[in-house]
Order: sequence, then C-alpha cells, then structure tokens
Amino acid sequence: MQTGKNMPHHLDIHFSSEFSTTHVQLVLMHENEGIINKVDEGLMETLLAAFNLADFTGKTGEFLPVYSSYGPVLIAGIGKGMDAGLSAETWGGRLFKQMQTVPFNKLQIDADLLPAEIVPSVLCGALSASYYFDQYFTVKKPDKIAAELHVTSANKTKLSRSWSQSKALVAGVFTARDLLYEPANVLYPKEFSRRCAELESVGLDVQIIPEKELETLGMGALLGVGQGSRRDSAVVVMNWQGGNDEAPIALVGKGVCFDTGGISLKPAKGMEDMKWDMGGAAAVTGAMHALAGRKVKRNVVGIIGLVENMPDGNAQRPGDVVTSLSGQTIEVINTDAEGRLVLADVLTYVQDKFKPQAIVNLATLTGAIIVSLGKEYAGLFSNNDVLANAVTTAGGNVDEKCWRMPMGKAYDDMLKSHIADMKNIAGPYGGAITAACFLRRFIKNDTPWVHLDIAGKAWSEKAKPTVPKGGTGFGVRLLSQMIDDWVDMK
Ligand code: BES
Ligand code: MN
Ligand code: ZN
Repeated sequence: MQTGKNMPHHLDIHFSSEFSTTHVQLVLMHENEGIINKVDEGLMETLLAAFNLADFTGKTGEFLPVYSSYGPVLIAGIGKGMDAGLSAETWGGRLFKQMQTVPFNKLQIDADLLPAEIVPSVLCGALSASYYFDQYFTVKKPDKIAAELHVTSANKTKLSRSWSQSKALVAGVFTARDLLYEPANVLYPKEFSRRCAELESVGLDVQIIPEKELETLGMGALLGVGQGSRRDSAVVVMNWQGGNDEAPIALVGKGVCFDTGGISLKPAKGMEDMKWDMGGAAAVTGAMHALAGRKVKRNVVGIIGLVENMPDGNAQRPGDVVTSLSGQTIEVINTDAEGRLVLADVLTYVQDKFKPQAIVNLATLTGAIIVSLGKEYAGLFSNNDVLANAVTTAGGNVDEKCWRMPMGKAYDDMLKSHIADMKNIAGPYGGAITAACFLRRFIKNDTPWVHLDIAGKAWSEKAKPTVPKGGTGFGVRLLSQMIDDWVDMK
C-alpha cells in the first residue's frame, strides 16, 4: 500500500505471532486490575516497586519507563479499559511519543491483551502521530527517531487484515498533509494534477482537464482567478466506482495553490500561509485516496479546481465582470475573494456531468470563519438538514468538528450587483456566510449540499496527540466516515 509520496512518517508497524527479543516490552496497567501482562515473578516485583515509588496508578495515557536488571520495560496506563475510536487513537498517539526515546523506539505490544477492535484504533493514532514532512532538510533532524512497533498476536492474519483498512485511511490523511506542506514553487496546478494522477495506482480513475479545455467549456469564473499566473489552471476529476449504478456523492475542493490576493493584494505578513489555500483540494484528494485504498462500496467523485492567484499585467482587475460556467455573471469587486469563483465553476461542472445525489465542498474560504468560530470548529453551511446532520455527526466521531452556520435571503441579498448577476463580496460583516450564499447560487434543483469552510482547520500551530502541528489533513477522516455511514439521498 502506497502511503503518500515519501512515506513521510517514522513508525514501522509489523505483525508477528512470535515475541521479539530485540524489542522493549510494553506492559499494560489497568486502574483496577493492575498489570494485565503475564510477566515473570521477579520482573513483576520490580514493576510493582517502580509504580509504587512513582505513584503510577494506570490512568489512560500515562506512561512509566522502567529500567532494571530485567532490561527496560515501558508501563502504559489503560485506565479502566479503552473504547475503540477516538480514545484508543489518542492513547496510540501518546504511545508513539514515548517511542521517541531510545530504547523505547523499538517496542513490542501483545495485541491479544486488548479487545480486537481497539488495536487498529491504537495503531491508527500512533501512525497518524508519527507523520512528519522532511522533504527539504538536507540534514535529517536528530530529534526524529525511527520507531518500530512489533505487534504480536495469535491471530496475526485477522489483525493485519483489519489494520489494512485503518492504514489506508491514514495513507489518505498523509496524502493530504503532504500536499499542504509542499511550497507553492513546487506544488502548482500541474504538479498537483500529476500527484492526483499517481493515485490511479490505488484504483482511482483520474482525468485532468487542462486550461485550454476549461476555456472551451466556459469556466470564466475559475479562469479569471488564474489569469494573472504564469502557471496554467486545471481541474482534476477523481472517480471511484465502488458501488452499483447509484448516483455518486460529489466531493469538491478549493485548490488555490497560492493566494496572493491578486490585484487586491494581501499584506506581506503571514502571506506564506497561503501556500495551504489548497486545503479543500488536499482533503478531497486524500479522501479519494482513502476511499479507494479501503475499497469502499460507494460511487464517489472527487473534483478540485486548481489555480494560482497572482497579481500581474494580465491579472483580473477589481470591477471586472466574468461569465461563469453556469451562465451567471459575476462582478469581481475583490480579487482576493477568489475561492468562491473557483468553486462556482467546479460545482456547476460536477452537477452537469455527474448528477450527484449530494455534494460536499471543502474550502479554506474565508478569514471570517476564524473570526466567527475560532480554530475549534469548521464552519458548516447547508441547504439540507439531513446532509448537514450526517456531516456533523461524522465529524464529531473522528474529532473533526463542524458547527452549522445560518444562511438566508437577507445575507444573499447583500451580493446584489449594479452591473452583473452578483458581486463576489458583500459588506464587511458575516463574510463567511455571504461567501456560502455565493456558492449556493451555483447549486441546482436543491441538490443536497454542504459547504465546509476549513480556513481555521487546515493548518494548526498546536499539536494534538494524533495530529502533529502543521498541515492537519482535516476533512479526510470526516469524509471517509460520512461515506461509511451513508444513507442514500435519492
Ligand atoms: N484564502 C483566503 C481565506 C483564508 C484566510 C484562508 C486565512 C486561510 C486562512 C481567501 O481567499 C480570502 O482571501 N478571503 C478573504 C475574503 C475577503 C476578500 C472578502 C478574507 O477572508 O479576507
Ligand atoms: Mn483570497
Ligand atoms: Zn484563498
């Protein structure tokens, strides 16, 4: 299984029915039941002495390294037992952190001591925590230690089979993170497209629509954004047909490979962050990778609009009027409100071509959503309560939280233009909402639709136990979970 371009993590997980003599033993301690491994009497005495001295009670996620004449041992608290899912993942993430110290970097865990459904979650959390992007260091960081987890089980075949599902999911998350980290001089529309095409190896059908063809199609809104760039724009369609002849679910992503703001230029401070203005496209690409890797029994089409927003002699000007693929005209008041212009055409295209039963689009669309919700929740906007709830629930189950925001005519009215069908920005307030209202104008026949504004979620300055700081891959797990739980909409 391919995991992203560079296998950019440093945790090697393997399964065996044999105990290893070269790996440190992980000893599990239950808050009520004490140590649950079978260990020799002498070692047991040593461990008891150690955790009495250290006041170690076995709370979840607490660890105690022990050195004795029996060799090093790592004691891990499992509280009063763990549930599969988030709590076990978090525990796995914390376990990985312990593995960043020699000799605990080579660890063995007896999987048969834990309920079978917990183990993939633990490994999933540990692997996710181990991600790092070291592509451009010529001297490898000394604080990154290669870690090896030796998982023993009497039924290793069954275990490695269930692990392959979780592993494929993490591979999708890593694909998204890789794309987020890459700088914009490397990852421009053509290179992004090429990386999508590489995913044909996992069974996706990938079509790249080059700029010339976008012109023929009439994607005036998307092309206006890219017209100041030396790099050609592109749209990529990734198709996964795991279901029967049901209408597909469409995943749509904003892929602005760099957002300078264009002629409505952004301030210099922090502009480097705009290399990850393709976070929506990264999430869609990662999710498609995960769905294909997991061979999900659904039809899903992923589509991303790839552009670079640059100021230039040929750039789009404030006040320009463009004609979108839908036929609706747009007065471009602010060239920095470009994401919605890109999405407008991609949304139209996916509806015309694939007649999806539902659409979920993801975009680092507005700074205003960060003003509204901070960095805890993604903003969720929808025309359909069932779909909105499905997305919110899926997100809650994988710690990718969403909060539904209002929409409505009063906000939509603020997009009125004197010269065209609409403007691309409204007044100074409620910017995330008016952006969503703009997108809604491109949804046909009330197709169930959700827009996730992930401007506050795609990149994080703070590490979580299973998500290192930096590109998070937010959305991949949510989308994968949502599709697992899918109930047909029409
Ligand atoms: N890519 C930005 C939004 C963004 C901001 C993403 C911060 C991630 C972090 C988007 O294209 C943008 O520039 N939006 C403007 C809209 C405004 C001109 C109406 C904004 O939010 O300021
Ligand atoms: Mn912008
Ligand atoms: Zn942008």
